[in-house]
Amino acid sequence: MIPTGTTAVAQATVDPDPTKGWFRRLLPVINAHRVAFSIVLATGLTGLAVQVSVPMVLRQAIDVAVHERTGNLETYVLLLVVMALASFGLRFTYRYLLFGTACRIETDLRSLLYGHLTRLSFSFYDRVAAGEVISRANTDIRSIQLLLAFGPLAGLSVVSFFMALGFMLSIHVPLALVTVSTMPFVYILGQRLRDQVFPLSWVTQGRMAEVAMVVDENVNGTRVVKSFAAETDQIALLAKVADRLRWSATALIEARARFNPLIEALPRLGMALVLLYGGHLAIDDQLGIGSLLAFSGYVTMIAVPFRMFGFVLLQAQRAAASAIRIYEILDEQPEIVDRPGARALIDPRGRVEFRGVTFAYPSSEGASSSPVLVDFNLILEPGETVALVGRTGCGKSTVARLLPRFYDVDAGAVLIDGTDVRDLTLSSLRHHVSQVPDEAFLFSDSLHDNIAFGRPNATADEVEAAAQVARADGFIRDMDDGYNEVVGERGYTLSGGQRQRVSIARAVLTNPQILILDDATSAVDVRTEEGIHQALAGILEDRTTLVIAHRLSTISLADRVILLEDGRIVADGTHAHLMATEPQYAAIVAQGEDPGEDA
Ligand SMILES: Nc1ncnc2c1ncn2[C@@H]1O[C@H](COP(=O)(O)OP(=O)(O)OP(=O)(O)O)[C@@H](O)[C@H]1O
Ligand SMILES: [Mg+2]
Repeated sequence: MIPTGTTAVAQATVDPDPTKGWFRRLLPVINAHRVAFSIVLATGLTGLAVQVSVPMVLRQAIDVAVHERTGNLETYVLLLVVMALASFGLRFTYRYLLFGTACRIETDLRSLLYGHLTRLSFSFYDRVAAGEVISRANTDIRSIQLLLAFGPLAGLSVVSFFMALGFMLSIHVPLALVTVSTMPFVYILGQRLRDQVFPLSWVTQGRMAEVAMVVDENVNGTRVVKSFAAETDQIALLAKVADRLRWSATALIEARARFNPLIEALPRLGMALVLLYGGHLAIDDQLGIGSLLAFSGYVTMIAVPFRMFGFVLLQAQRAAASAIRIYEILDEQPEIVDRPGARALIDPRGRVEFRGVTFAYPSSEGASSSPVLVDFNLILEPGETVALVGRTGCGKSTVARLLPRFYDVDAGAVLIDGTDVRDLTLSSLRHHVSQVPDEAFLFSDSLHDNIAFGRPNATADEVEAAAQVARADGFIRDMDDGYNEVVGERGYTLSGGQRQRVSIARAVLTNPQILILDDATSAVDVRTEEGIHQALAGILEDRTTLVIAHRLSTISLADRVILLEDGRIVADGTHAHLMATEPQYAAIVAQGEDPGEDA
């Protein structure tokens, strides 16, 4: 359990011991809300006691005040009014608290899970479809929340049944037995309803997700759909899944329509039985009219737990399955974490060394696939700019990903100033190593916040200076809201080149000693690229830079060029030297200059 003290995050984590049962593992999270739960139970039980006593008071009022005329009728009326008010207040309080607490636990679980997802390594996201995991987790967390809300409610209603039964037995034992005699049927019918309804509701839920997915893909992929004029096909697909949903939703409604009225009619049948038997008892003067009235009150009250219990049992099964799926994610250990005793990287000079690095991406089965890098050796001196050139898929981006420890090497080491990156704290390492990835990702946030992402408290001037370096200042000023302009989802309202410039400004702002530009100017037109290069040249001077390049103009920024093939360095030297000695290099450079390649 890690108490955090802040209110926004969960106050407790689930028990890390995977051998414990799902509910026991959840207990620390529930325990953090034990005060609220205690109040729920106390108010709930008091409310029940009041509610269950109402028919008894009614009975007294009729037998004593109306029939025998020995009591004051107004006093009973007043008492009933007070009881009604108290019962309302208590029931409101406990339901409000109960559902509120269940929702807070839901929020806790959600922030636990999302917090954990942010700590998981890249390799986790290579293995699983994150969107799917998250949407499934949402349903799973909701199903636990439902159990936490309805479980105590069902528990309380069971208590109310026994209270009511006690009162009824104290009045007339045989009539009490007649009154409860219809209850097993309520339970059985409820069970039959669930047997029919739940498979259908699962199917319906799945089909709703199906429709949502088709709609979602079409909205998000609308550019692709429209550019291939595939609207009619997509509409037909939507009609098909919508029709499947309609079928299961109709079947669901039918099952509910058949069973629900039956279940509701049973207590009325019970009431008829009470009237038949109890009425005769009253005629024979063996039972007071008040008692008869009390029994008819109880007959509807006691049906509730029988209707609820089966539902809650089923919900418990679903919550258990859900919890197991959630724990699967929570038990997933981030592979890349700070070593014990890791030290912070402070003011690095920026000497980078790949020493005998061998690396393979972990495959989905956990085993390693064939290595991308084999015995890879490369040294970047402080302040040096090195261009990494090679055919697509040869491992350039992989080299870039090993430096900030997005993945760990399988053999050898990556060192900064002679220290293995695995001996450095991740936060300090990533602070000094900035990467402009090949695909710029922008948040649907203001341009200022997007640039200031790595340094949220940067001033407006600093952000603008970084944007000027990245040649982003011009187009940002042309926007209606300038730096406050919010870019659409994933930055789609910007062009590819504009996104890349924002992404470069983001990296520049953190002022890293080591900079990685992964094909960072590929989406920019040649003139803008020149502008960026002029500005970058000044910045690159005193930092170590690895540029992954296709175009000659980018390569020309570098002091030295490395030619990579199948994860091995095949040539290392100046551009002129490689042009003269490596025909393969000349071919790649020529290809990079081909305008068709950039489209
Ligand atoms: N996350 C990943 N999981 C598994 N394999 C990967 C992953 N990323 C890349 N690879 C594989 O590793 C190899 C090298 O990929 P890498 O992205 O480093 O190439 P690259 O040189 O950057 O290519 P490009 O010029 O197209 O960007 C490729 O065979 C690729 O299929
Ligand atoms: Mg790449």
